[in-house]
Amino acid sequence: MLSPKLHAALNEQINAELWSAYLYLSMSMDAEAKGLKGVANWFYVQWLEEQDHARILMNYINSRDGKVCLKPIEPVQTEWSSVLEMFQETLKHEKVVTGLINNLAAIAAEDRDFASSNMLVWFVDEQVEEEASARDMIFAAESVEGDKYGMYQLDKELASRTYTQASPLASEAE
Ligand code: FEO
Repeated sequence: MLSPKLHAALNEQINAELWSAYLYLSMSMDAEAKGLKGVANWFYVQWLEEQDHARILMNYINSRDGKVCLKPIEPVQTEWSSVLEMFQETLKHEKVVTGLINNLAAIAAEDRDFASSNMLVWFVDEQVEEEASARDMIFAAESVEGDKYGMYQLDKELASRTYTQASPLASEAE
């Protein structure tokens, strides 16, 4: 059984992941409205991935005989001044999420809850990837700042990003 402290923190994390999903969906819609279909696609994939993160946590709580309690999703920003600003905010937000995941890992370790520690390893690794990909995108957006043709090319490139279901959810499809 999950400790009450870890159970509550995992429930909070579901909300944080769904808020992340909502944030990226909002960025996707803002990019779409600005005619940046590739950027919109990049953030749309991000929105799908964040929903996976929430589902992994929901499945896990259920598997440990806990109850998932969904809370309201706070509003998100709806407009950004540039693509660069979107990616800068993405990195800033992912750093906050990394802190939350580390906190969950610390509680699991404190509880000597090895199953939860194991489950959280995937999230620890995922956050390294999330931060690295946001940094890459900042670099790409900085490289084309003020260059309309460069942005057109970058947008075309981002249109090719595809969604892959998170590996911990693979058994769901069986
Ligand atoms: Fe669920 Fe982007 O971290």
